[in-house]
Amino acid sequence: MKLTINGEKLEATEGQTILEVAQENGIDIPNLCYSPELKPEGACRMCVVDIEGVADPVTACTTEVSAGMVVETETPSLKKMRKVLVELMLANHDVECLTCDKAGDCKLQDYAYRYSVKKVRFEGEKTEFKGIKDDNPFFIRDNRKCILCYKCVNLCKQVQGEASINLENRGFDTRVTTAFDLPLEEINCQFCGLCVNECPTGALMEKSALRKARNWELKKGSTICPYCGVGCELELNIDENDQIVKVTTNSDNVNRGQTCVKGKFGLDFVNSEERLTKPLIKEEGRFREASWEEALDKVADNFGRIRDEFGGDATAALSSAKCTNEENYLMQKFMRAVMGTNSVDHCARL
Ligand code: SF4
Ligand code: SF4
Ligand code: SF4
Ligand code: FES
Repeated sequence: MKLTINGEKLEATEGQTILEVAQENGIDIPNLCYSPELKPEGACRMCVVDIEGVADPVTACTTEVSAGMVVETETPSLKKMRKVLVELMLANHDVECLTCDKAGDCKLQDYAYRYSVKKVRFEGEKTEFKGIKDDNPFFIRDNRKCILCYKCVNLCKQVQGEASINLENRGFDTRVTTAFDLPLEEINCQFCGLCVNECPTGALMEKSALRKARNWELKKGSTICPYCGVGCELELNIDENDQIVKVTTNSDNVNRGQTCVKGKFGLDFVNSEERLTKPLIKEEGRFREASWEEALDKVADNFGRIRDEFGGDATAALSSAKCTNEENYLMQKFMRAVMGTNSVDHCARL
């Protein structure tokens, strides 16, 4: 079908929402609770748009397109509405952008800037959440910076399938928590970190990144997770000392922004001073350091000797899911073509 957004004639498919069509065509409609992985929640109202012939603005993330629809996304009245929405969110927010670790990577801060929210006009009752919840080794929850967008709750339930967290109470006392306020380690949390990746504010933060660097100082590098053969794509956030301070993911990668606990929180081994950096050869029960040349020559000599003395079938190889497909291919090729045996196996087969 054809429709118009901000004067641009566009094509869309039945069932798409206005927000999806806009994003597909590079039109930026503000949003805080939207995720392509979730059913639309319509919680934050930041995506309000005007439709010709419709009296009140509608939320673009929950409204499906129809043929001939004419949509405006950034009129003066919509800007005013969004400004009030941000003011309302900040009225009940621990605004400390000067020192907040999320600054520079915070959608709420971005929208406050975009809609010129200079000071909060709304005074009165406020939420009195005490401090930061620090109940697990990987991330903290600061309900004073939560805008109740439901994203973490919905991702945990709809994508991760755990429903470890939910909202409790009503009105000013509403907050995200676990059943009976138990520590995450005592319930079914998998520590996938999806909620942390997607939180639009500083309410959920990786502990490893706190007070390490401002977001804009971090170098970003794409890599493949070294832990298993699924091959999730990761984004490393590296500080000026070349230390990985956190791992993030993009929703447009092969793993659609998801990882397990190892990929998200287990890459600190990369910076460990205990990592082996040189090959070791065991002699008379003790390891000694060797050069790569010496170690590889020794392995090659012994492989050749065993094959020549006892035949290729005296050898077998077990490869690892931590290797890439290409490495596993080379391993079996080496065993068949060089060692002359089909005795190859893989730890992930069982
Ligand atoms: S969460 Fe965002 S808006 Fe809130 S203090 Fe931190 S940077 Fe500022
Ligand atoms: S913790 Fe973050 S993702 Fe969860 S509801 Fe609050 S602001 Fe939204
Ligand atoms: S880390 Fe994963 S399982 Fe745990 S609360 Fe967040 S989304 Fe749910
Ligand atoms: S993004 Fe549409 S209501 Fe939040």
